[in-house]
Amino acid sequence: MTTSTDKSAALSLRNVSRNFGGIRAVSDISFDVRHGERLTIIGTNGAGKSTLFNLIAGSYPLSAGEISIFGEDVSKQAPSKRAGMGLARTFQTSKLFAGLTARENLFVALHKTNGVQRKSLLANPAKDPALVAESTEALRKVDLLQKADVRVSEFSHGETRQLEVAMALALNPKLLMLDEPAAGISPSERGKLIELLRALDKDISLLLIEHDMAVALAVADHVIVMHDGTMFTQGTPDEIRNSSAVRDLYLGHGHE
Ligand SMILES: Nc1ncnc2c1ncn2[C@@H]1O[C@H](COP(=O)(O)OP(=O)(O)OP(=O)(O)O)[C@@H](O)[C@H]1O
Ligand SMILES: [Mg+2]
Repeated sequence: MTTSTDKSAALSLRNVSRNFGGIRAVSDISFDVRHGERLTIIGTNGAGKSTLFNLIAGSYPLSAGEISIFGEDVSKQAPSKRAGMGLARTFQTSKLFAGLTARENLFVALHKTNGVQRKSLLANPAKDPALVAESTEALRKVDLLQKADVRVSEFSHGETRQLEVAMALALNPKLLMLDEPAAGISPSERGKLIELLRALDKDISLLLIEHDMAVALAVADHVIVMHDGTMFTQGTPDEIRNSSAVRDLYLGHGHE
């Protein structure tokens, strides 16, 4: 096992663990995300995927191990410090404001850039040309510009997932983490999401949690399979697609 972090990696985890009381939610996980790499984590319910995101973002402290972002050990750093280094994430459960429009949600996302509060939001963001331009660009990237002034409560589920990606992209991340962006979306919206994720700037390193195998395997360069907090296996999308062990694991847990 590699014991030191890879200084050239966008993200490096070494022997990362997290316990909740007696539950070992994440157990001794080590991997790297290289610059520009698309790494997908799949796994059964309760495997520890979202907990891993919370550990990387700094929302939960580590029980053991080390996490580095762009070569810097952030294991004890606050979430805002990690965000300031270019880390952006979405959540498994939507954090959008349903009563606000898509653009207004983006203004909220943009209220801090690199961890610094932007004063203009407090006055009238719609009159700040920089904020308007940045929100327009983020909406354009996820093909939602035509819905800029529509309230999120009127969005389809797939559109809310697209907007969440836009919220993270608006922060100009260098390392983007998406937690199940395809959860609950329709087949046609799924195709669109795959396109969107594949079209992301290659400078952005992507860590994706995805239950939906089609999305996971279409987007990833490399796949990690988690089970019961541990790394069950890893490989290329083809290796994972053809793995009978992975198929058995999923079938055993009631997945397709
Ligand atoms: N805040 C918490 N407090 C206590 N236990 C937790 C907490 N968060 C997660 N867990 C437990 O840790 C384990 C891993 O949960 P986690 O949400 O990380 O799994 P997951 O792989 O994201 O699952 P899913 O596919 O259902 O989203 C589960 O047993 C869960 O109940
Ligand atoms: Mg989860």
